[in-house]
Amino acid sequence: MKDLFGNALLDYQNGHYTEDIITSTSISDDDALPLPYLFRDFKDMPKLEQQALKLTKGSILDVGCGSGSHSLFLQEKGFQINAIDISKGAIEVAKQRGVLNAEVKNILDETETFDTVLLLMNGTGIFQELTQVSKYLTHLKSLLNPNGQILMDSSDIKYMYEDEDGGYWMDTNASYYGELDYFLSYKNEKETPMKWLYLDFNTLKLACETVGLQCELVMEGEHFDYLARLS
Ligand SMILES: C[S@@+](CC[C@H](N)C(=O)[O-])C[C@H]1O[C@@H](n2cnc3c(N)ncnc32)[C@H](O)[C@@H]1O
Repeated sequence: MKDLFGNALLDYQNGHYTEDIITSTSISDDDALPLPYLFRDFKDMPKLEQQALKLTKGSILDVGCGSGSHSLFLQEKGFQINAIDISKGAIEVAKQRGVLNAEVKNILDETETFDTVLLLMNGTGIFQELTQVSKYLTHLKSLLNPNGQILMDSSDIKYMYEDEDGGYWMDTNASYYGELDYFLSYKNEKETPMKWLYLDFNTLKLACETVGLQCELVMEGEHFDYLARLS
């Protein structure tokens, strides 16, 4: 990984914002990911994220914290937060912004336990593929204190396969429709392609049941997105 995402966050943080990240997927064309959005404050967050922050309790792990926007908000409210991300640049920015416990770490290497584990901005993305969901959920479950909870958002992206006649063009023999190849570029450099997983709520709920987690739909968003609470 070249960490272009982290480089972009560092540029923005250090006052060198000249262009946005460009993303595309196996089923969608180039789209700008505005850097200011990655530094959003509470009022500019989607309602699902605001609701997740309102539901947090106790000690918190912010997984894939990015620039630390959610961590900062919660830290200012007095919560004990650990923020982790695999992007070195993101962690450097989170620290510069004032997140006290920010560390470069893959979620699979986390061993502490928490009252709330947060995965926001398509939290299921880091599972990458449907076949890996059980592994990640089992691990996330092992990080929960008694009565702990996992709050995560995702989307049912079936709508992206809808054609003009209201039919769907997805190949039913192919892998799960929420499994995408994800491409990112920044300042004309291309990141190593990644896998990124969107999970519809029912598939997430089924996967949770297989690993002994309860999965509750907390809230639906404005565009096929949702917030789930796992316990
Ligand atoms: C879509 S961004 C979301 C950033 C932030 N949560 C936000 O809402 O602005 C996903 C983040 O997850 C991080 N990430 C991806 N896989 C990860 C893993 N296995 N463990 C920890 N972080 C991961 C990426 O580096 C990236 O910063």
